Amino acid sequence: MHEIKWLSAYQIGNDKIDEQHEIFLSLVNKLAIDVRNGEGEEQIHTTFSQIVEFAAFHFSDEERLMQEHHFPEYETHKRLHEKIIQTLGEYFVLYQEGQLAIEDLVRFIVNWFARHTVCEDSKIGNFIAERSVARAI
Ligand SMILES: [Fe+2]
Ligand SMILES: [Fe+2]
Repeated sequence: MHEIKWLSAYQIGNDKIDEQHEIFLSLVNKLAIDVRNGEGEEQIHTTFSQIVEFAAFHFSDEERLMQEHHFPEYETHKRLHEKIIQTLGEYFVLYQEGQLAIEDLVRFIVNWFARHTVCEDSKIGNFIAERSVARAI
């Protein structure tokens, strides 16, 4: 599998969150490398678990940031986080059962990350930036 490239669109303007997005993508790249190297299910499981654990850690930081800034779409956004954690678990079972190719699972994670970060996380960054501008006037 090809390496997944980092894009500046994955930055939302908060250093901690931006750094976590980079770490998340590097973990997904680790999984893509495992797949390319033909690693067995045990190694794939280890890397996949790291991705899910890091995602949960990142989501709680992001949710804390939303609450700190009284982000109006907090509940909706939090539900999207809960949904993807659940879906990842379900898809991993499908992979283990031989019903989903690992390459497709990696592609799904990358597509989810790109869409969620660019379309949803960016709203948090924009909201915080607008609020800080409003306060400075
Ligand atoms: Fe995020
Ligand atoms: Fe998010």
